[in-house]
Amino acid sequence: MKGEMPFDVFVRLSENKYTKIFKVGDLIDRKRFEIYSEKGVKELYIHRRNRRDYIAATERLVQRLLKQTNISTAEARRAIEELSEQTLFEIYEDHVFDEESVRRTQTTIKTYVNLVNSDVKSLANFINLARQETYLCRHSIATSVFALLLARAAANVNEKTLAIVGLGGMLHDMGMSRLPASITDSDRQMTPEEWTLIKTHCKIATQMVSGIPTFPTDVLTAIEQHHENWNGRGYPNGLRGEAIFYPARIIAIADAFSALTTRRGGRALYSAEDAISVMVTEEGKYDPQLLRVFMKLLEKKKAA
Ligand SMILES: [Fe+2]
Ligand SMILES: [Fe+2]
Repeated sequence: MKGEMPFDVFVRLSENKYTKIFKVGDLIDRKRFEIYSEKGVKELYIHRRNRRDYIAATERLVQRLLKQTNISTAEARRAIEELSEQTLFEIYEDHVFDEESVRRTQTTIKTYVNLVNSDVKSLANFINLARQETYLCRHSIATSVFALLLARAAANVNEKTLAIVGLGGMLHDMGMSRLPASITDSDRQMTPEEWTLIKTHCKIATQMVSGIPTFPTDVLTAIEQHHENWNGRGYPNGLRGEAIFYPARIIAIADAFSALTTRRGGRALYSAEDAISVMVTEEGKYDPQLLRVFMKLLEKKKAA
């Protein structure tokens, strides 16, 4: 980072005590950061009201990195992870979702698409999911990445579809942010009433983007249909087979695989092989051709 500090930066001294180490307008001095790091300071803090400024600074960094051809550096990785996480954090924790969130997610997806185009394997290795703090962050990023990998491996896929599945994968569960945390933060058995409520998350997404005219319609369709099943037994509309939007069929597979393989609370995790076995037994739920492509993709990964 170069230039002036866009906000005040603090270190935490104790539970509720913070001290300012940089103030807005200070010249950014990498050396000083290093000194704090050597003193054992692991985390820096900013005011919640400065979150957007912080995100904007991170985004500028990502955009600079995007222009470079070789972006597989630790710095790029940290910046992209941070940008994805902060955006998802805003949606799920601060309940902020607006034009700015959409535009920024598009930037992130562009980075992911670049990566998936340059080296399919690097994308999965690039993103450090374990670092993400909340389940919905991990699950959303994983779904987006798996959807991109699957879309790339499937025949006849173009840049437009990649952009739809990337953005759709990242935001597919955003409707959950409007449901009570007692339901969305828990992995216990749900009551029938709670299930009915959870099933509304696909439709809630429609309300959330209604005030955002720039939101791509294709992405919304993919989000609305991510729980439709190939056999017609999904929700919300019980669509069947090819009547389901192609990107939604891709996201459905990525979503299921991500849910089975992503850490959540104390729940046991499935290995990639076991997750696929589970999905194969859920007969008729997924587009069979896409599921085969996905299985092949994982075999390749294992062999590599
Ligand atoms: Fe969902
Ligand atoms: Fe999901």
